[in-house]
Amino acid sequence: MKYAVITGASGGLGAELSRLYLERGWSVEGMDLQESGRAAALREAFEERFHFTPVDVTSDEQVEAFAASVGERTDRIDMLINAAGVLTKNGENHLEDFDISASLKVFDINALGPLRVTKAFLKLLKRGEDRVLVDISSEAGSMQTNNNYIRRYDYCMSKAAVNMQCVILQRYLRPDDIKVLAVHPGWMQTSMGGANAVVPPRESAEGIAALAEKYAHQLDNPIYFDYNGTPRPW
Ligand SMILES: NC(=O)c1ccc[n+]([C@@H]2O[C@H](COP(=O)([O-])OP(=O)(O)OC[C@H]3O[C@@H](n4cnc5c(N)ncnc54)[C@H](OP(=O)(O)O)[C@@H]3O)[C@@H](O)[C@H]2O)c1
Repeated sequence: MKYAVITGASGGLGAELSRLYLERGWSVEGMDLQESGRAAALREAFEERFHFTPVDVTSDEQVEAFAASVGERTDRIDMLINAAGVLTKNGENHLEDFDISASLKVFDINALGPLRVTKAFLKLLKRGEDRVLVDISSEAGSMQTNNNYIRRYDYCMSKAAVNMQCVILQRYLRPDDIKVLAVHPGWMQTSMGGANAVVPPRESAEGIAALAEKYAHQLDNPIYFDYNGTPRPW
């Protein structure tokens, strides 16, 4: 049986990714700040194949304890998907009113969170069969296609940092045959995406899983894709 670890598993995308892999017969370890109704429903439907653990990705201790507890249930994982993230009210401010100190938290969650989780799970990931790491980025992190933002310093800069993280990790982890994908999941119909969003999170999850499957066997260079398989310029 294959094993996935998914952060943000209470949220719109993380819960759909968890459901998708559970439906495909995988075991899934989900984590988030707290268990949502969606995550509880997965636990009830899939019983011992879905574990949920409350974890804050900004806490070294909590992330390491989570990895240790997963390590008691499995000696390897095949896939790690970093989907936890935040978008804040502060980010809607123009620079004159933007609280820079408050934005440090966004960096800790969106940029350092994935790195912290990846670090904690590296040993298990190296022993997996597929060895795929997916970091959920955003179009907001692209230097070349970020054309419209005149605010959102915290979110855009944190997602650009995720992209750089993927480039470095792909280079560092290639000798271990770990494939690293940065993915823009689309403007999704989730609490983050808001009322006008267009992509159902299930559609995004299916696209991300198709990309992960495609690149599970070989990936030589860092890649940044939209969920539907369209390459996105860095
Ligand atoms: N929705 C979009 O249109 C869109 C577009 C581009 C990229 N993305 C990215 O896609 C990913 C998933 O977003 P989504 O739309 O599914 O949003 P979502 O429904 O808000 O899910 C994000 C989850 O991350 C959790 N989280 C926040 N801070 C955390 C922390 N410190 N530790 C652990 N978990 C934490 C949130 O918990 P709380 O709800 O309790 O805060 C939430 O459950 C994010 O990385 C986001 O940046 C989304």
